[in-house]
Amino acid sequence: MLAGSTSRRATASRQRFPLDALSLDEAAEEPLYRQLEDQLRDAIWTGRLLPGERLPSTRSLAQDLGVARNTAINAYNQLILEGYLVTAKGSGTRVAADLPERLLRAPGAGPAATRETRPLPFTRNARRIASFRPWVEAGGDLPSRPFRPHVSAIDAFPRALWEQLTARRLRSMSRALLERTDPRGYRPLREAIAGYLGSARGLVCGPDQVIVTGGAQRTTELIATLLLEPGDTVCLEDPGYTLAGFLFELAGARVVSLPVDDEGLDVARLSAQVPEAKLVYVTPSSQFPLGMTMTLPRRLALIDWAERCGAVIVEDDYNGEYRYAGRPLPALSGLAPQGRVLYTGSFSKLLFPALRLGYIVVPPDAVEHFAAARWLLDRHAPPLEQAVLADFIDEGHFARHVRRMRTLYAERQGVLVEAAARDLAGFMDVPPSESGLHLIGWLKGGLTGDRVAEAAASAGLEVVPTSMFAAGRLERDSVILGYAPFTPRQIRRATQDLAHALARR
Ligand SMILES: Cc1ncc(COP(=O)(O)O)c(C=O)c1O
Repeated sequence: MLAGSTSRRATASRQRFPLDALSLDEAAEEPLYRQLEDQLRDAIWTGRLLPGERLPSTRSLAQDLGVARNTAINAYNQLILEGYLVTAKGSGTRVAADLPERLLRAPGAGPAATRETRPLPFTRNARRIASFRPWVEAGGDLPSRPFRPHVSAIDAFPRALWEQLTARRLRSMSRALLERTDPRGYRPLREAIAGYLGSARGLVCGPDQVIVTGGAQRTTELIATLLLEPGDTVCLEDPGYTLAGFLFELAGARVVSLPVDDEGLDVARLSAQVPEAKLVYVTPSSQFPLGMTMTLPRRLALIDWAERCGAVIVEDDYNGEYRYAGRPLPALSGLAPQGRVLYTGSFSKLLFPALRLGYIVVPPDAVEHFAAARWLLDRHAPPLEQAVLADFIDEGHFARHVRRMRTLYAERQGVLVEAAARDLAGFMDVPPSESGLHLIGWLKGGLTGDRVAEAAASAGLEVVPTSMFAAGRLERDSVILGYAPFTPRQIRRATQDLAHALARR
């Protein structure tokens, strides 16, 4: 029997055989036969078992190790299959006498830790993508700490209800849905989205124009794949959603960043500076990251410019629903001729970011192109989540949730404004915003966003400098302060901690 979780036995009778080195761990996740197989292979690679050397019978090895005989049989069989061991009638099992050099010297041979590695031939694009490694590490699996932006109020999400809807769908899901789904998205979800856009965002479209994607980044990738040729010009707000700009650059486009002011993108500068472009990417309902709403004259001027130069406007309406003063403004898309604007939405902020569901509304004659590209790149979004979301919308939970969140976010924003005025006034101004899920902290006295981020990290907080989303130098430096997923207590505590950390600098 294995004693405790680990057993190690050696026998004097088989001194050459490195039983001493065998150590099987019953508690490990890896099955015992796999552990044995790996350790024997390792002994061959490292020369502790020599070519031609005889191994104990499976029966006696199993006995010595205190494991079932099948464990030894399975391990031997696998190594025979791989060519490391041979069996011959009468002479038992031996290490192959003529182990091909390939098996011993193959770069893949040897314990994983000591294996040689060959660097993959990464492209220039891949090397640029590597600049996002810190984002991956920072995100990790850890819960957000104040003031991480881009996260919704996970604490207020109706999880029990979502679980119920998921369980109901799982029980009743048809076989067809498990096989595959329409690349454009699960039809009832497209119907629900089209209905919602008509009533909440003033956007009239049919369900066939809605293409469900795996979130805003996937949507942008789709647009870049279908509409951009290398060398095309794409215009972006500055500061703006540079994560989209990055994808356009990967597709070979030249990204031109243009300033924003209180009314949104500076369209006069755009007209003067860019006579021709393929796309312009804007966030009219709540400019990312500064939060202002694009005024009606600017919207009309932007559409005019796009009509003149034949550019397509991408309207990223990532959280147009969250307006705290007056009613949400209808989407810009409703003001323009069909085909001039591609409207994109995401459920990341409305429900929760890990859901990874978003959509794009495309003109009827473009549907087939988008559907084909969806099929090629990703097939379709996961059907279970799509079906649950369709139910969530159809049964009225979605509208109710968004209404509740609007009230909750307005409250949390108020708490942040108040707490920042109390604790952070010496370092930054944090004015309220009519939209969005974060505020901007306008820095004072030569303080930089990077210094604030450093101080925040030293206090166990997360603050993102606005410069991360800027193409050039910002006229006035600032930081992004997310408040949506944090309780009033967490917010108050965090402004105090940040103030102390900044005072210590
Ligand atoms: C400007 C903007 N667009 C879109 C999104 C949504 O992105 P995704 O759907 O990929 O989560 C975000 C999320 O932070 C955003 O800030």
